Amino acid sequence: MSVNLHPAIHPAVNPPSSPLLEVHDLSIGFATGPADRSGRPALATVERLSLQLQPGQTLGLVGESGSGKSLLALAVMGLLPPTARILGGRLRVAGQDLLNATPAQWQHLRRHTLAMVFQNPRQALNPVRPIGLQLQDALQSRAPLSRAQAQAQALALLEQVDIDQAPARLKAYPHELSGGMCQRVLLALALSREPRLLLADEPTTGLDITTQAAILKLLTRLASERHMATLLITHNLAMARQHCSYLAVMHAGQLVETGPAAQVLQHPLHPYTRGLRAATPQRGLALGDLQAMPGSLPDLGRADLPACRFAERCLQVQTRCDTQAPEWRPQASAPSGALHQAACWSLN
Ligand SMILES: Nc1ncnc2c1ncn2[C@@H]1O[C@H](COP(=O)(O)OP(=O)(O)OP(=O)(O)O)[C@@H](O)[C@H]1O
Ligand SMILES: [Mg+2]
Repeated sequence: MSVNLHPAIHPAVNPPSSPLLEVHDLSIGFATGPADRSGRPALATVERLSLQLQPGQTLGLVGESGSGKSLLALAVMGLLPPTARILGGRLRVAGQDLLNATPAQWQHLRRHTLAMVFQNPRQALNPVRPIGLQLQDALQSRAPLSRAQAQAQALALLEQVDIDQAPARLKAYPHELSGGMCQRVLLALALSREPRLLLADEPTTGLDITTQAAILKLLTRLASERHMATLLITHNLAMARQHCSYLAVMHAGQLVETGPAAQVLQHPLHPYTRGLRAATPQRGLALGDLQAMPGSLPDLGRADLPACRFAERCLQVQTRCDTQAPEWRPQASAPSGALHQAACWSLN
């Protein structure tokens, strides 16, 4: 029996056109662990992760804190911490191999193809430069523009992210803006690159609930208008369901389930996704019915991690979960025809 370690490629999720983001069998480790003769760490923090994203698609990446969501986004941006090492696999954006990209290719990618918005928008902005000038700097770094042209484009960007009194705001410093407005400015900075892929890493953390909803609505509207692929990292399953067409669920550095967002959350296949859903407040569910996820994320520095890293927390654990990585098998087809699949021996 052939062992399928990767989510299957399905025409509805991955049409014949080449994907914008292609992550194949990607493993990332840290140099602090034991190293082999080539100096590579032996332990993979993110282990053999595969997923694809088509132009215009919005993929929600969910999972508990420490599951490797940000590491994946940082790898795509070429911004991994200096101690991190790519241990294997492939990473392509718009057909370009990121793992062998030259500094000039990275510069081009970051100015024209990729953009990322982070949490803590205020920290991501330069505190001593008015936001209008920060936008002008970004615009002028990618195309030769006169000051007047850059100013006009900066204003247009602020208007696109629905900042009220945009002409006056151009002169504002980040500390003069609310957290929600700072996140809109970061979005405007991201849009100034006309990216084909936007990585949003918990872009609404720290904002009040109304502002969170408004920012995500804006982000998904802009992504759809610009046919921009979006990877949205979030802890909030309800928001992921509302704003993403697809979901990928990560646990302890491993991808465990993928599929259309509504299908994954209505009919979760993997015991981990079921646990996440049961621990999440939902309409019609009393708070007293919420169930805490059993156990905690295993220490990813451990040399004796089970093949399925959820095994020690799993009520459906089998003996082979310890030593054999579970196969990915398509389990069901959503009404759209897109695949819904999970990597778990209990499903076979
Ligand atoms: N600089 C680092 N050095 C060593 N290990 C690291 C470093 N950064 C991350 N890690 C390891 O990688 C794992 C994944 O980290 P990552 O930041 O990607 O998690 P995350 O899913 O984004 O969590 P959160 O939801 O809290 O943001 C962590 O649990 C930690 O073990
Ligand atoms: Mg993170």
